[in-house]
Amino acid sequence: MKKLLLSFIVLMSFSLQLRADEGMWIPMLLQNNEQEMQEMGMNITVEDIYSINNSSMKDAVVLFGGGCTGEIVSEQGLLLTNHHCGYSWIQYHSTVEHDYLTDGFWAMSFEEELPCPGLTAVMLKSMKDVTNFVLEGVTKDTPNDERARIVSENIKKVKEEAEATTNYQVVIKPFYHGNKYYMIYNEVFKDVRMVGTPPSNIGKFGGDTDNWVWPRHTGDFSIFRIYVSPEGEAVEYSEDNVPYKPNYHFPISLKGAEKGDFTFVFGYPARTNEYLPAVAVDQEANVINPVSVDLRGKILDIYNKHQEKDPKVRIQYASKHASLGNGWKKWMGVTEGINNFKGVQKKKAFDEKFTAWAYKSRQRGAYLTLISDFEKVYAEYEPYRLAITYLSETALNIEILTFAAEFNKLSQVTKDTPQEEIDEMIAAAKEATKVFFKDYYQPIDEEVAVAMLTEYIANQPADFRPELLNTIEKKYDNVEAYVEELFAKTMFTSEEGIYQFLDEFKASKAKKLAKDPALMAYNNVMDFYLANVREKASDINSQIADMQRVFMRGQMEYYADQEPEKRMYPDANFTLRVTYGKIGGFSPRDAVNYKHFTTLDGIMQKENPDIYDYVVTDRLRELYENKDYGRYADKDGSMHVAFIAGNHTTGGNSGSPILNADGHLLGLNFDRTWEGTMSDLIYDPSICKNISVDIRYVLFIIDKYAGATRLVDEMTIVE
Ligand code: ARG
Ligand code: GLU
Repeated sequence: MKKLLLSFIVLMSFSLQLRADEGMWIPMLLQNNEQEMQEMGMNITVEDIYSINNSSMKDAVVLFGGGCTGEIVSEQGLLLTNHHCGYSWIQYHSTVEHDYLTDGFWAMSFEEELPCPGLTAVMLKSMKDVTNFVLEGVTKDTPNDERARIVSENIKKVKEEAEATTNYQVVIKPFYHGNKYYMIYNEVFKDVRMVGTPPSNIGKFGGDTDNWVWPRHTGDFSIFRIYVSPEGEAVEYSEDNVPYKPNYHFPISLKGAEKGDFTFVFGYPARTNEYLPAVAVDQEANVINPVSVDLRGKILDIYNKHQEKDPKVRIQYASKHASLGNGWKKWMGVTEGINNFKGVQKKKAFDEKFTAWAYKSRQRGAYLTLISDFEKVYAEYEPYRLAITYLSETALNIEILTFAAEFNKLSQVTKDTPQEEIDEMIAAAKEATKVFFKDYYQPIDEEVAVAMLTEYIANQPADFRPELLNTIEKKYDNVEAYVEELFAKTMFTSEEGIYQFLDEFKASKAKKLAKDPALMAYNNVMDFYLANVREKASDINSQIADMQRVFMRGQMEYYADQEPEKRMYPDANFTLRVTYGKIGGFSPRDAVNYKHFTTLDGIMQKENPDIYDYVVTDRLRELYENKDYGRYADKDGSMHVAFIAGNHTTGGNSGSPILNADGHLLGLNFDRTWEGTMSDLIYDPSICKNISVDIRYVLFIIDKYAGATRLVDEMTIVE
């Protein structure tokens, strides 16, 4: 009996635990989670997190640069985000003489803060359920295309009505795969300036080697500031703009956190797919990911080889390398996680339970054949998905081709095209040329072209081969010969040549442009895609979306019926969410246990002056040797660098504030553990952990390392 009781308790706490960590919740609806959050240790109320009438934490969280999260930490609009989120801006401002990527950058006054044209910070003002308006006129039986038409008309109408009464940006988004719709009012800040960044050997310590991996020692932060007009309006950059006064900014805790402590993460997760049928998960993990991983691996090998040889090339390809490498590694982790966790089998088991449940009631007719229909449609989808993957991972990673594509419009100019338009095209082409050559290294591109075209030719069946591939096979001895000729004949390898061509451009020269082999190659693969792949793929895709909407509704009914206590969260869709979980390590495999935090000692253990990713500056070593950590040391005396917790995060959550039970800032989320990246498809609390940089390490770097103390002085510090 005792034993039984014990296993019952274990079981219960396991299932509670399951519910506690998983989920990305809509802040407006957080009342449903409040009790659980408080039971887990939270000392504040959900009204403190999200309030429409009073200032609350939501007023300090922004969508940064369209893809990351940032948080406001001072009364003067100071913004923290990740180094990898600010990366392209750091690179934008870097030259070989002012290499902020390598050396870091610290504005020592407001005047030194650097404008970033095009960078935005988007702040949610309020949010409203508009499902009834958007789905007005739709029933369960409305045919899909009819439904799509009604929904898009309704959205247009609701949005226009809202826009007529506000200056804010209005966005309407589907949630729960189109079973619900919310309208969101945003303030879009357009003058965001770069204030500070550590050198890459702090901000990107461990580089792509450690990316996605725990234990981690990356000081992954950078600092920006929001500026507004003197009247407080969110306007484009102007010299007259002033620092933004937010309604709320996060206090910063210097107390650190212990294993088991409550935390929550507030930010903009981009995309998850937690409610897919088994066949979809299987296709992603075992068909598509392995192809992308293989192709990107080959490109990255080529980048690495050249980057190691030449410091200029290293800077030029840093950002390209990071973005290709990030997906590459993540998808490897997803596939491994799904397979180790028997994810496909678990999904299958659910699919079967779902179908059996559907057979139990007449009302559930829509669900009876859903799973077997999914199997059919995904099988049909597979070759198209592969075609898209091959196109985008091979041909579109040949830089000369995508660059040439920027001249497409110009190549279609005729003698009737107004001169004004031509002038605009020329100006745009010149700008594109400048941007392109800043970061272009032809020997890399030639090697990538050979490798990728070889793969494209070898792996695509007859029906999915653009003519270019057949031409290469028929007319050339080998792919190398084709690539050699391509690069010898195209005009797009010569920056000077392009400028000259553009300066002398007349309508009569458009034909010459259209015949350029790089432009022709690009158009050949894209035309093939447009004619033979896109339409069919998007048809199947919308068919899947319609089925997924029904499946989602079915799963909501299933759980309401079978496990009424289960709360269901909508998949991530780049809207503001709250997720919560406890600090703690995990066991990734037999006999290995991960502690929940890392320290500066670990940086010194990894240090290796010969390996780019593990270089440590003299300044950091000196601070370490003198244990000169000031008030930023943990109470154990060491300098904590990063920590992990059970928060359900995904891409887009980078830079998100991770907060303690009082809502004080503990750190910045920047990654997940590789073993748990499958959490976008299936969440398993035993291995799915988010990785954050400890705010005390951030402040230590700003203050002690860089001496940018003026920035720390602006912040509200809780000691
Ligand atoms: N894996 C993190 C994310 O998904 C960090 C990526 C940037 N860091 C890097 N070493 N590439 O965005
Ligand atoms: N590094 C990711 C980002 O840029 C966060 C990691 C994740 O996918 O959880 O958003």
